[in-house]
Amino acid sequence: MSTIRLGVNIDHVATLREARKTTEPDPVTAAMAAEHGGADQITFHLREDRRHIQNRDARLISELSQTRVNMEMAATTEMQEIALALRPDSVTLVPEKREEVTTEGGLDLLRIGAAAGPIVKSLREGGITVAAFLNPDLAQIKEAAKLGFDAVEIHTGEYANAGRTEAERTLRAIRDAASATAKHGLKVHAGHGLTYHNVRQIVEIREIEELNIGHSIISRAMFVGIEQAVREMAALLRR
Ligand code: PXP
Repeated sequence: MSTIRLGVNIDHVATLREARKTTEPDPVTAAMAAEHGGADQITFHLREDRRHIQNRDARLISELSQTRVNMEMAATTEMQEIALALRPDSVTLVPEKREEVTTEGGLDLLRIGAAAGPIVKSLREGGITVAAFLNPDLAQIKEAAKLGFDAVEIHTGEYANAGRTEAERTLRAIRDAASATAKHGLKVHAGHGLTYHNVRQIVEIREIEELNIGHSIISRAMFVGIEQAVREMAALLRR
């Protein structure tokens, strides 16, 4: 039996705190509880506008985590410097737009590759594994391999939002992207919009080694607590 690594994205806890600009709920405490529930990794997104996770959260989680830390960030020199200071186990480069509610699409490496390349190189030289968050698009995956990324996180948002008629097509695109990523010698991660209901079909894709899941787990945690919510998701990731 193999298990997929479960990265629990705790940004949503910080979003609730920032709604009141106060001290609770604390995403650092949430991260520790998630680890008790069986998270293999804590994932956070330090956004340029600091709308949820703050530098203090990123620093404390990096210091206190007993598992792995995955920092999502835009490909900017400010974030590069913070990542090199915090030394998370991995960085996932994501696109950022101020007006979006959440990360809406994958990176366009064909457009920003020249800027991202040196950042990938310096993070890797700092001992950090680097992933690119990409739509299930074969040209983008090929570019990620050329730019020296270690991994691709496949954006599962379109699959998560698809109605019954589109589900199979979107799933096929993710399967093809996973297989192409592995053929290029890169590790395969996936995430965005995954829930207790739609995750099973993603788990069946054998190339996938890591899933990053936030909103659904934190929503369930309101009713059963974070440890139990993580435990339930971790059980669904067993193959
Ligand atoms: N992976 C990446 C790269 C993301 O940006 C997000 C959202 O912050 C997630 C995974 C988790 O998405 P969700 O909160 O919808 O589970």
